Amino acid sequence: MSTAARSSGVGRRPSIGSVRSRNDLGQYDDLAGEWWEPRGEFAALHWLAEARGRLVPPAPHEGALLLDLGCGGGLLAPHLTGYRHVGVDLSETALAVASDHGVETVRADVADLPFDDEAADVVVAGEIFEHIPHLSATVAEIGRVLRPGGTLVFDTINDTRFARISLVTLGERLAGGPPRGCHDPGLFVAPERLRALCAEQGIEVRMRGLRPAAGQYLGFLAGRRSSVRMLPARSLAGVYQGIGVKASAAGTAPGEPSAEGPTL
Ligand SMILES: C[S@@+](CC[C@H](N)C(=O)[O-])C[C@H]1O[C@@H](n2cnc3c(N)ncnc32)[C@H](O)[C@@H]1O
Repeated sequence: MSTAARSSGVGRRPSIGSVRSRNDLGQYDDLAGEWWEPRGEFAALHWLAEARGRLVPPAPHEGALLLDLGCGGGLLAPHLTGYRHVGVDLSETALAVASDHGVETVRADVADLPFDDEAADVVVAGEIFEHIPHLSATVAEIGRVLRPGGTLVFDTINDTRFARISLVTLGERLAGGPPRGCHDPGLFVAPERLRALCAEQGIEVRMRGLRPAAGQYLGFLAGRRSSVRMLPARSLAGVYQGIGVKASAAGTAPGEPSAEGPTL
């Protein structure tokens, strides 16, 4: 379906995902032309990138290192200022798109990061935890590469029936929902598990739910607009986001988001 056809309303979507197994990385090759289409298959990732960018603290100095794990097509780039934005992904096609949008790219698995200990000022993990079978190893890598006092920002999908229905069963059929076959619900992430894994790394996280602004989403479905603001939600049952600061030294209390920085 062309973007123009999609723009006409709720009409939905090529069955690209149906020929691949769920969460197959090859889907990102099939959809490589969609990353920056405002009403394309990754439309909601634009809305989430904006909400994620709001949690990134001001760069502590020009060129501070921000690692964007599972960066995809680099949709976070417009929402960052002052950082050296390095995107990590396994998809060559996604990395090529990210590079075209000013992201410095590295092909690697997020569970085995090719960066020195404590190299990063900020680690961002946007819509990646729910795609990986090795969550514990990945969070351990985040803890290793993040400097003391550095910030982790993430968003992901909860392991609930609500999330499976709203983001897979229904969501994959609706404009603005995830591409068909994008998610394996078996990989969805319970917040308490993520909280415990982060705490093991000295990162105490705060979390909140996210939901699209209802009126704007209806406008999107009607083809009247492309962007939809993601609003905080009390419930973590669907998509949720989090922020945490790594403790300053071994044995000290986990860090708090700074008074000047964004908080939840
Ligand atoms: C849903 S997309 C999110 C992209 C981006 N963070 C955003 O929100 O626009 C998930 C991305 O994670 C990447 N990915 C999946 N498993 C990965 C892994 N083990 N290591 C690195 N990247 C991975 C995929 O190639 C894809 O680009």
